Amino acid sequence: MAGDLREHLVHFFEEHHKLVEAGALQLLLDDHQPLVLSQELVENSVDGSPVVTREMVEAVLALRRTPAVGAAPTAELARHALPSPSPFELVQEGFVGPPVASQPHAAYQALFHSRYRALARLMRGRPQLPNLRPIKDLRASEGGASIIGMVRDVRETPQRHHLILTVDDDTGSVEVLVPKGSPGARVAILPDEVVGVHLSFAKDAGRLPRVVNIERPDIPVHRAVGRAPRGRRAIFLSDLHVGSRSFLLEPWKALTEFLRGQGPEPWLAASIDHVVIAGDLVDGIGVYPRQERDLAISDVVEQYVELGRRLSELPERLNVVAIPGNHDAVCPAEPQPTLPSSLATHLPPNVRVLANPSAFALEGVVVEAYHGRSFDDLIPAIPGASYARPTEVMKRMLQMRHLAPIYGDRTPLAPLPRDGLVIDPAPDILVTGHAHTYGVDRYRGVLLLNASTWQAETEYQRMRNISPVPARAAVVDLSTLGLFTGDFSTGTATFAAVPT
Ligand SMILES: [Fe+2]
Repeated sequence: MAGDLREHLVHFFEEHHKLVEAGALQLLLDDHQPLVLSQELVENSVDGSPVVTREMVEAVLALRRTPAVGAAPTAELARHALPSPSPFELVQEGFVGPPVASQPHAAYQALFHSRYRALARLMRGRPQLPNLRPIKDLRASEGGASIIGMVRDVRETPQRHHLILTVDDDTGSVEVLVPKGSPGARVAILPDEVVGVHLSFAKDAGRLPRVVNIERPDIPVHRAVGRAPRGRRAIFLSDLHVGSRSFLLEPWKALTEFLRGQGPEPWLAASIDHVVIAGDLVDGIGVYPRQERDLAISDVVEQYVELGRRLSELPERLNVVAIPGNHDAVCPAEPQPTLPSSLATHLPPNVRVLANPSAFALEGVVVEAYHGRSFDDLIPAIPGASYARPTEVMKRMLQMRHLAPIYGDRTPLAPLPRDGLVIDPAPDILVTGHAHTYGVDRYRGVLLLNASTWQAETEYQRMRNISPVPARAAVVDLSTLGLFTGDFSTGTATFAAVPT
């Protein structure tokens, strides 16, 4: 029972996109009303941290023990007792190494088990998945049941165009039929995503169970959201490609002038404390055929030295958070580790380098930053998806609660012991790059940003039919998630408010 309660509490905080520290969890378990205490902590942390610490639990317990006569209600006191969120707090880096097994098969098995466990936990107990069973315990005589499984294969029947899914869980494998035009067939089912499936069994034992409904982990409709207590801002950039001949120097100068308060809207610049860069910091070498023709700097170390020079043009007071992308000099398999210290040493001290992906909180607002390599797999797999509208694909990522589910295609996946591409906790902002366009959207309260590029169109992109929308930046108010789009493409900064 204690194990169940522990798991329940962890899950409860995760649903409210909070991580609970081990010490805090033990204090909660030791209390005579752990669920009530947990609820109080969540209710009182509207402007609090994404991490529940032992100190926070102690603060609430202390107030319970010594209520002052005529004082404000406990909840109100606790709200004041809880510390303000830190300007920056690391929630979780996607990269955790090394693999648990040296044999690739065993290592990938551990990765997929980790994915399954993490995503299945988000769906257990849902009323849309009645009579939930392990696959090995499915009985056709029961008429109906539900499973949670990873999609191993999707194929279409040749004549009627129904779908047949092969779904695996820890206990076995089953083939199920998704009738054409049924609710389950409305959203493309991707290989290696984890889904909940409500099944109905036919009386005829020879027929496949039919899918009544498909559930995805998704972002909860009702959840606590992170908002900064004060109107400080973050600016989101991506795909600098320093070292490329096509690096947009004049627009970059307009950006640095703006951030130094020497351009238009100095009040806006003064409100910015954070810069997030979603990968492809440099152009790299050997990333695509005959790239050397596009390079202004052909030595990758020199590219990072130049990146350091460019980033030192930003005001020193800014907290700069940068993750790598597929052009950077780290292992291309995802999750990617952070830049090695031999390269990071060329960057100014206010730049914090993290893994790709990484989740972190800026003033209590949880940001999931992912470069976006999986667009190369998801765009061909999702009908209607395109590089011009990456935020549509990002919605799908949130529904799956996974950034790059498809194994064995263009996005190499690293066989690490924890699947760091699972989106957990649910973020307040999801930022990507890679598509070299600019996109803003919202999904269930999550702000979606595709953060443009600082590289003009290259011949390689022309060949691949990618039309960049360069030199744009989103300036986000962390207390409201309202934003301005900055356009630096002409070498002069202009700003437009984005309607919410
Ligand atoms: Fe890029």
